[in-house]
Amino acid sequence: MGYGVTTSFEPAFPAGTLIQGKWNNGQYRVERLLGEGANGRVYLVRKGKQHYALKSGFDPHDHQSEVNALKALSRSSSSFQQFMVDSDDFAYEGKDYPFYVMRYIRGKSLTDFLTENGRDWVHLVGLHLLRKLTELHAGGFVFGDLKAENMIISGYGDTELIDFGGLTAKGRSIKQFTEVYDRGFWNAGTRTADEAYDLFSFAVLLLSVTDRQRRLQGFKAILPQNRNVEALIEMLRDNELLAPAAPVLRKALLGQYAGSRQALADWRARSLAKRPVRKKPVSGGWIKVCFAASLLLFGATVYMFWP
Ligand SMILES: Nc1ncnc2c1ncn2[C@@H]1O[C@H](COP(=O)(O)OP(=O)(O)O)[C@@H](O)[C@H]1O
Ligand SMILES: [Mg+2]
Repeated sequence: MGYGVTTSFEPAFPAGTLIQGKWNNGQYRVERLLGEGANGRVYLVRKGKQHYALKSGFDPHDHQSEVNALKALSRSSSSFQQFMVDSDDFAYEGKDYPFYVMRYIRGKSLTDFLTENGRDWVHLVGLHLLRKLTELHAGGFVFGDLKAENMIISGYGDTELIDFGGLTAKGRSIKQFTEVYDRGFWNAGTRTADEAYDLFSFAVLLLSVTDRQRRLQGFKAILPQNRNVEALIEMLRDNELLAPAAPVLRKALLGQYAGSRQALADWRARSLAKRPVRKKPVSGGWIKVCFAASLLLFGATVYMFWP
């Protein structure tokens, strides 16, 4: 609950461990650790020929609430339906560990993806994210803990949300959030789950992954009473890459969107349409070079044969 801190003294299951579910009898062989957050560790596992991701929670209560959220989510008809495939307990070295099994998503973290492919992909990733959020919101949920660590990017910027530990039914209190992405942290609104809560985090997320000077991290040290959304608006103003999307992000930061559907429509119209066009491929350049060369040659010829 609340701000996440990554500390756990729970043992990690080594590669080769056979995780056998106590109640459903599912058998999963651990291949490697995929990642770790404040609430648990996630392993790449195999069941027969199939790969899955298996999350083992540190706190049984928080883990159960995440499982419940995922169950509720899969009932709301959406692309998240087949996400969780099993949930059970595993006895290991005399102790029970709750776990759940989900679809394994192959890909990269957002920061790695942008470093490798170029930061202007952020506009397309933004579109995918807004689509996902709109879908969750239509099902009555708010994602809650939107941040770079909670998504995986694959292929051509396809974006999948992972970590539904913050998933909250609309109108309830946000269950799990992370400092700078949380509008409460910025004195910019309540921690009640509404669509605008996710849109605020969405805007901070985009600022964060394009924040070259790491200004956002510096804000953690500011006294709570001095944190305000103006600082974020200023960062947005100085951000050239996000300029085409700035009006949308500004509205999101100021809580001026009632819903994500409108934000998505605006994103389509602005961020993607007005993306700075990359320089023309070399072919156009070559024609100019050839033209200049021919002019020079012409000049030289004229000079040489001038009487
Ligand atoms: N379904 C998945 N497929 C691939 N990797 C995953 C999956 N779920 C989680 N991970 C990896 O494990 C990390 C921690 O998982 P996460 O659910 O975010 O834990 P926490 O709730 O503790 O933050 C993620 O940042 C990601 O790298
Ligand atoms: Mg996480």
